[in-house]
Amino acid sequence: MEIAKKISEIREAVKAMKKQDVTIGFVPTMGYLHKGHLSLVKHSLAECCKTVVSIFVNPTQFGPSEDYDRYPRDPVRDAELLKKEGVDLLFMPSVEEMYGKDFFTSVEVSSLAEKLEGSLRPGHFRGVCTVVCKLFNIVTPDNAYFGWKDAQQLVIIQKMVNDLNIPVKVKGCPTVRESDGLAASSRNIYISADKRKNAVALYKGLSKIKDMVENMGITATDVLLTEGRESIERFSGVELQYLEIVEMDNLNPIKKVEDRALILGAIKVSGVRLIDNMMVEMKRVTSQ
Ligand code: PAF
Repeated sequence: MEIAKKISEIREAVKAMKKQDVTIGFVPTMGYLHKGHLSLVKHSLAECCKTVVSIFVNPTQFGPSEDYDRYPRDPVRDAELLKKEGVDLLFMPSVEEMYGKDFFTSVEVSSLAEKLEGSLRPGHFRGVCTVVCKLFNIVTPDNAYFGWKDAQQLVIIQKMVNDLNIPVKVKGCPTVRESDGLAASSRNIYISADKRKNAVALYKGLSKIKDMVENMGITATDVLLTEGRESIERFSGVELQYLEIVEMDNLNPIKKVEDRALILGAIKVSGVRLIDNMMVEMKRVTSQ
């Protein structure tokens, strides 16, 4: 596995790959890799001839009081894991390499970026879109792989790619969960062992709503959200930040689940923020 730290180096390495006329898959990450990231890598390896991964803890997507400085980092272990998976090229730029002095440009997918996570983390998606747009321009992949775990991020990046005609296929991959249902996340290490059992609160609430829609046929979102909230708030030490049922493409809240919809939530468990979501789908009754 080749490791590039400079933009000029990764451009050279990608240029050499492109001479072989191969499909290039790209997995952007902030490192501290877990099985969710590795599943994105596996999707890319299965679908593309070459796989490029980036590790860059992007300062512009963290708010001033957020965890940029203490965000977990372990580049040596990450590089070993990626090498073992069979990744071809790893891009690990410094902050100075990505944002030289006098960096003025940003990419914003307005409206979508202000809802849900965006309402609690102003500027977060501006930072995400700016860095992902830069990475797409640097790596120029055919496909890029993102987890459904960050559903709003995925919807926003898809929109950015469409709006700006960026020639990359954005692929959403299923959320990877621990055995108790908690979605895999680099931030899970912040949860102490004694609080761990309460961290599944959001997963339980989302599952409850999904069950009510798909197995009981309940479609009124006020009823669904009341039940979901109660299920979450039953866990001790859990603060519910938001729980919404929205349309897949525009993330607008809906009153009734008619086809497919997305339930998204965020909680704080003893100070640690966790997000998760599930897709719900009304089963169609087909006449024979
Ligand atoms: O999902 C992430 O890890 C980050 O938001 C991303 C897409 C790598 C951009 O920094």
